[in-house]
Amino acid sequence: MPKFQAPRGTRDLLPSERAVFMRLEGLARDLAMRYGFAPLETPMFEGSAVFERGVGEVTDVVEKELFRVQAGRGESERERWALRPEPTAGICRAYVQHGMRTWPQPVKLTMTGPMFRYDRPQAGRYRQFWQFDVEAIGDPGPAIDAEVIELAMAFYAAAGLDDVQVLVNSIGDATCRPVYVEELRAWFGRHRDALPELERARLESNPLRLLDSKDERMAPLIAEAPTITDHLCADCQAHFDGLLTHLAGVSIEPRVEPTLVRGLDYYTRTAFEFYRPGAEGQQQALGGGGRYDGLVELLGGQPTPGIGFGLGLDRVVMALAEQEGRPAPEPWRPAVVVVGADPDDTVVRLQLATELRGAGLACRADLTGRRLGKQLDGAAKAGAHFAVICGDELDSGHVQVKDLQAGTQRQVDVTELARDLVRANTQHRHGGDG
Ligand code: HAM
Repeated sequence: MPKFQAPRGTRDLLPSERAVFMRLEGLARDLAMRYGFAPLETPMFEGSAVFERGVGEVTDVVEKELFRVQAGRGESERERWALRPEPTAGICRAYVQHGMRTWPQPVKLTMTGPMFRYDRPQAGRYRQFWQFDVEAIGDPGPAIDAEVIELAMAFYAAAGLDDVQVLVNSIGDATCRPVYVEELRAWFGRHRDALPELERARLESNPLRLLDSKDERMAPLIAEAPTITDHLCADCQAHFDGLLTHLAGVSIEPRVEPTLVRGLDYYTRTAFEFYRPGAEGQQQALGGGGRYDGLVELLGGQPTPGIGFGLGLDRVVMALAEQEGRPAPEPWRPAVVVVGADPDDTVVRLQLATELRGAGLACRADLTGRRLGKQLDGAAKAGAHFAVICGDELDSGHVQVKDLQAGTQRQVDVTELARDLVRANTQHRHGGDG
């Protein structure tokens, strides 16, 4: 085994997997912009307080999974930073810092990139993973909640996953949640002896988190525990009803899931997660999100409502691989390879390839000094459809164009070559055989 390996819980995205990610990133960018979300990029690390305050001190993400970064030599110079475990807190920090509340509201922002959590690595759970994130800040909903969920569903469908289901819940607000949390604390308190140790500690600090426990021993208790859905105040109930009405309006049939509470502290009211049927386990969410009406204020801004989602691209890629089993696209494969009868005449091959790339073709020149036969073998192995063969005809301004798949060959005037190959390549791509 080589001495140096990618760190545990991370992986190299090799070309075929990276190509699938790039397709998803492109879809994410195009769809988000069509829905009016503008791109932004926040740093991959922030002052740790942004996450401690924003995501919450008593969450797995902050308690156990934050990648803390220390830099600076002396104690006084040393700052406390952390790699971003998720984008929402950083985006809200940026909203406050740049005075975005003076922009037309809601401010709709999108970002796609790597996130970092020091989690126990397993299938679909990495220490560096990718999220497609959108945030709509400044609109109390509930119509926009449905719009955001519909955008996520449109993304999954465009990606090629058409059986994704959305689970929704309302987790109340500052009026009704505290009453519920106390009831929950009392209820779990009566079952204290059955609680695993970590959950017992959480009973005091954050009882809501018990509902989101990854410990299997908790499942029967969670099923019995009182639900927030039965404790919503009138405003939260009206908001939740509004969400369901708007979802129905865009033909989305959610599954209402009263135990869905999400793992981050900033949520209020709407909470949702996306799953494939039969994969509704804690570890399998394809994405999730919700409303965070108190987050901007927690980070030093004015009270401002917000909602968004983060979709896990790694998990979408895994689901696609399970579903399709078809080879990933490889857009870097050349359509054309320029080869030559005189192995040493690399100048002319480089010139022709440069010209063909200028015309928009994916083209590679064989710049090795190997024999023509080997060059042609190499072109076929690279998956090229055409080989341009430079031989003696060059003296009269011609080359041979070989169709490597059909096995046919014809002579083409060099001045016509680019136009000819662009046309042939388009016909090939639209011919349904590639
Ligand atoms: P989250 O549920 O923590 O929410 O993460 C969103 C998605 O990221 C998950 O559903 C999952 O697909 C993916 N994910 C999370 N952790 C990992 C991991 N270790 N490995 C692979 N994929 C993972 C958030 O992060 C919120 N910021 C979403 C949000 C945006 N809420 C409002 N706006």
